[in-house]
Amino acid sequence: MLIVVIMNILGIETSCDETSASILVDGVIRSNIVSSQFVHKKYGGVVPELASRAHQQLIVPVVNEALQTAGVNHHQLHGIAVTYGPGLMGALMVGLNFAKAFSYGLKIPFIGVNHMEAHIYSNFIGDPKPGYPFLCLIVSGGHTQLALMKAPFVKELLGETLDDAAGEAFDKVSKMLDLGFPGGPVIDKLASKGNPHCIEFPRSFLDGNNFNFSFSGVKTAVLYWLRDHTNSVNGHRSLDEQTRADICASFQAAVIDVLVEKTIRAARQFGVRDIAVAGGVSANSALRKQMHQHCQQENFRLFIPAFEYCTDNAAMIAMVGWMKLQQGMRSPYDLNAVPNLAFT
Ligand code: KG4
Ligand code: ZN
Repeated sequence: MLIVVIMNILGIETSCDETSASILVDGVIRSNIVSSQFVHKKYGGVVPELASRAHQQLIVPVVNEALQTAGVNHHQLHGIAVTYGPGLMGALMVGLNFAKAFSYGLKIPFIGVNHMEAHIYSNFIGDPKPGYPFLCLIVSGGHTQLALMKAPFVKELLGETLDDAAGEAFDKVSKMLDLGFPGGPVIDKLASKGNPHCIEFPRSFLDGNNFNFSFSGVKTAVLYWLRDHTNSVNGHRSLDEQTRADICASFQAAVIDVLVEKTIRAARQFGVRDIAVAGGVSANSALRKQMHQHCQQENFRLFIPAFEYCTDNAAMIAMVGWMKLQQGMRSPYDLNAVPNLAFT
């Protein structure tokens, strides 16, 4: 007889500038509340102290909303999953300490989750799920990696960025174009109105048959192009709308060509059937489209999370928590936040 254990898991994510809580009921996401902190916009990047303060204010209402939306009472929870790294120290501590206190008070286990691992398993929200071994391209604001996922939580790192992460390059180019922070969504939108062949920005495939990445070259190429083709007025580049859109489209195409080609090459070499993409940049419409086209041509099954699970969210944390708690894993109360938590 099949015994189904209903497990209600609360997931919490506070590693950067999104305060998020999610309820997962036996593998199905019932709520995923994400409160983005707009206080950072005017600074052109995340200000750590402001992030911690905002998490402190938001954590209780966000958790309450997640519980209410899911129709779950906190006494019905069986476990709590929380990000403990990588991320900003003060930001991580808010979520982690809340989770520890809540778990202690409710007498239920808690489990610390690696944020980057959770991005990978955002592809396990919903069905079908990738089958092992599968290849995962992880593209976020701080990481760009290609990994071979051999079994649950067993991963072989095939390559990673040697300098800027893909999302970081989007954010830096956005700043050069006065488009604000975060840069990815706005460049994605503007690029749809531009010509990707207008400017030939370099594609850095690096030497040999390796799976590493480098995005500082294309970022610098945009900087030099602006210096050589535009005037600076009070520190801002004078650009008309169409040129701005063409730069966005051309830059985006240069980044995506490399991401897609290296991923497909790795999938062929390692003989996988399934390819997953994860992290904030997986929300990029051109990346999603180009990946789909290539996977279709070569008969790979492609997994990309729904938009709401691409950027930082607690649903992916709850998913990993559920997978680990089911295996009897839990964390000790002296678990600390680890800002540079490794992911190798
Ligand atoms: O995964 P994420 O939310 O946070 C980290 O773990 O870093 O990723 C954030 C990154 C930012 O660099 C942001 O600009 C980028 O993801 N991003 C995008 C898009 N949406 C978010 N990049 C390109 N196109 C998008 N549509
Ligand atoms: Zn993230």
